[in-house]
Amino acid sequence: MTRKHKLLLLPGDGIGPEVMDEVRRVIDWMGRQRAVGFEIADGMIGGAAIDAEGTPLSDETVARAKESDAVLLGAVGGPKWDTLAFDMRPERGLLRIRKDLNLFANLRPAVVFTALTEASTLKAEVVRGLDILFVRELTGGIYFGKPSAIEVLADGTRRGVNTLVYTTPEIRRVARVAFELARMRAGRVCSVDKANVLETSVLWREEVQNLHDADYADIELSHMYVDNCAMQLIRNPKQFDVILTDNMFGDILSDEASMLTGSLGMLPSACLGAADTAGRRLAVYEPVHGSAPDIAGQGLANPLAALLTFAMALRYSFDMIADAELIETACRDILDEGLRTADIMEAGRTQVSTAEMGEAVLRALDRLAT
Ligand code: IPM
Ligand code: MG
Repeated sequence: MTRKHKLLLLPGDGIGPEVMDEVRRVIDWMGRQRAVGFEIADGMIGGAAIDAEGTPLSDETVARAKESDAVLLGAVGGPKWDTLAFDMRPERGLLRIRKDLNLFANLRPAVVFTALTEASTLKAEVVRGLDILFVRELTGGIYFGKPSAIEVLADGTRRGVNTLVYTTPEIRRVARVAFELARMRAGRVCSVDKANVLETSVLWREEVQNLHDADYADIELSHMYVDNCAMQLIRNPKQFDVILTDNMFGDILSDEASMLTGSLGMLPSACLGAADTAGRRLAVYEPVHGSAPDIAGQGLANPLAALLTFAMALRYSFDMIADAELIETACRDILDEGLRTADIMEAGRTQVSTAEMGEAVLRALDRLAT
């Protein structure tokens, strides 16, 4: 057996722990079936970490994350912690792990499974077969720019400030990721900005175009304003292959795109850093959905986003492409069989719990592997 892959699991809050339990079972399955083992460690993030360690992400957890081959994250946040000071909120844990590990490229695929075509609020013909990959810049832009503050002015009124800032290297490194991924797909990148208003976007557009012309002339590059993109995603989403955009635009557009697929409960994501000379890169994998405190602990959560997220870890951190595809096929198969968690339930289908969905995936994996 080769060296074990080190996985750090950060289940977090709300439905995070219950969807992560299903991921654990699939990790065990992979460990049993393949000549590669996984060494699993557990840690805390978000509200769980606030309660147990007094901070949404401890230095120790950051250090352990840096030593891991990949981090799998559940979800963070909940009403219990909403009244805390801004810097102590569960979301800060998420932002900190992205920043401290320098995970500048956020990959968010929006794929419509055939069986779920009718689950979208859009017409079936608009979304059937949809396969978009968002590449969102994740460690810069208005999320992290300084100054950021709420100040009290002399007259007693207040002033809120955030700073939108991007540099050439920040733009080029994430654009490179988008171009490389487009080469493995349909070969098209649409870069989304607000270059009719924002200087950062003018720079973004020029740098993306320059990199394209220098190194990626084989890729079809287009540029689009973010307001138009929001509209085009609803009007004709299949025009897109890879969408490259900044931190905040990517946050908003990827939520919009999730609804094309029928449910936020279906979408995985990967947050990747730069590869070192040995080809190793830090990575955090997380479902796009939140902690959904309203349904936590009731067996209603959809574990497929978390399972598809583990598949992304196999693909991008461990080069286990065939095994990633195996998990994706297993998820597709059980949807074809008609199994549905509450979020994607339709008339004539069979509603199952979080754990039952996980068990069905394991059965499908057993079938596929023989
Ligand atoms: C996301 C989330 C986060 C973000 C929040 C929870 C900080 O909305 O991952 O899209 O804005 O990046
Ligand atoms: Mg978001």
